[in-house]
Amino acid sequence: GQSFCSVVARASGDREPLLLRVAKGEEAERTPVWLMRQAGRYMAAFREYSTKYPFRMRSETPEIAIELSLQPWRAFHPDGVIMFSDILTPLPSLGIEFDVVSGKGPVIETPIRSIEQIKSLNSMDDPATSLPFIQEILSALRSEIQNDSTLLGFIGTPWTLAAYAMEGTANRYCLKTKTIMHRNPKVLHALLDHLTEALVTYACYQIESGAQVIQLFDSWAHHLTPHQFEVFSLPYAERVIKGVEAVHPEVPVIFHMNGGTGKLELLGDSSANVIGLDSWVDMGAARDVLSGRMIQGNVDPVVLFGTEDAIRESVSTCLAKAKGGGHILNVGNGVIQGTPEDAVALFCELAHQSSNIPAVE
Ligand code: CP3
Repeated sequence: GQSFCSVVARASGDREPLLLRVAKGEEAERTPVWLMRQAGRYMAAFREYSTKYPFRMRSETPEIAIELSLQPWRAFHPDGVIMFSDILTPLPSLGIEFDVVSGKGPVIETPIRSIEQIKSLNSMDDPATSLPFIQEILSALRSEIQNDSTLLGFIGTPWTLAAYAMEGTANRYCLKTKTIMHRNPKVLHALLDHLTEALVTYACYQIESGAQVIQLFDSWAHHLTPHQFEVFSLPYAERVIKGVEAVHPEVPVIFHMNGGTGKLELLGDSSANVIGLDSWVDMGAARDVLSGRMIQGNVDPVVLFGTEDAIRESVSTCLAKAKGGGHILNVGNGVIQGTPEDAVALFCELAHQSSNIPAVE
């Protein structure tokens, strides 16, 4: 409720916000929380906009994107505020147009499948000119939330964006992209290379606009075997992380992978500060593999459709199993449409009531 929010809201003062401190590996008074896709159609306030305005307009008009980013913050007081945008948002500035079609998800009318197309893509020379709304959204959010929450920027990984660009629409097998992978891998590598360069610039632009943490979404990592992940995703994600770190060493990076089961060992040496876990890996097992690393996750978002007891049980098990290193409580995949808002409120409140967590070595 209102009074709860205002008490927590003014608690931090000049100190860096909690989630940022935990992402940096510092000791903290409790476990921070946010939810992937916390701004979305499960919120009545969001639907007032999503039924009226198309997705690109909502995410590229600063007033609307700012409002949508702040809705979950006002309602649930998560420790992270993520800008309302999409992983595909930078693509049009490279010459890859997309739209979000109701019932179908993102659609790229002209998929990128040849070297000629890749050679004619734009580079991300001047994001302040090609994506000016990002700067407006992030700087306004930062001054709005101050040190009461952490402002998160985000990007898709080169693999996930390349797969969207090659596939055109979601496909169960990621068939077009993986066919190219196995017939003409140079084309895929060329696109990955182009996106990697662009994403370093884009992530740095988000930081310079006010983002305090950057999350990498490798949403389509589940299409890759561990070996394919090692060849087509991890090295490019690492180049992005190291590229950002070279310019902004103070900014922690969260690397969230969808489909981590069987690939976690590979992330043990990643340069990311925090490893984001989906729900398909046991938090205790992940904690063992990633000993001493900071981790984020990984409550099944469908649990939020369950009873209050079921939610309490899942969160407390997750918190207990994550102990022994820094942990940011989150769902393992984005919040699902139809999730009760009360359940999200409870999820956040359980983290607000959690106990202290130790620093990471
Ligand atoms: O987390 C947040 O609250 C910030 C907003 C956010 C959106 N997309 C808004 C959005 C974030 C962080 C994303 C990232 C994103 N986009 C990912 C990575 C996260 C994940 O789920 O793995 C992916 C894979 C995409 C691509 C994408 N864009 C999908 C799968 C969809 C959903 C399509 C649908 O119809 O449900 C989109 C569109 C989109 N992006 C929506 C939202 C709230 C839903 C459509 C709408 O609001 O009109």
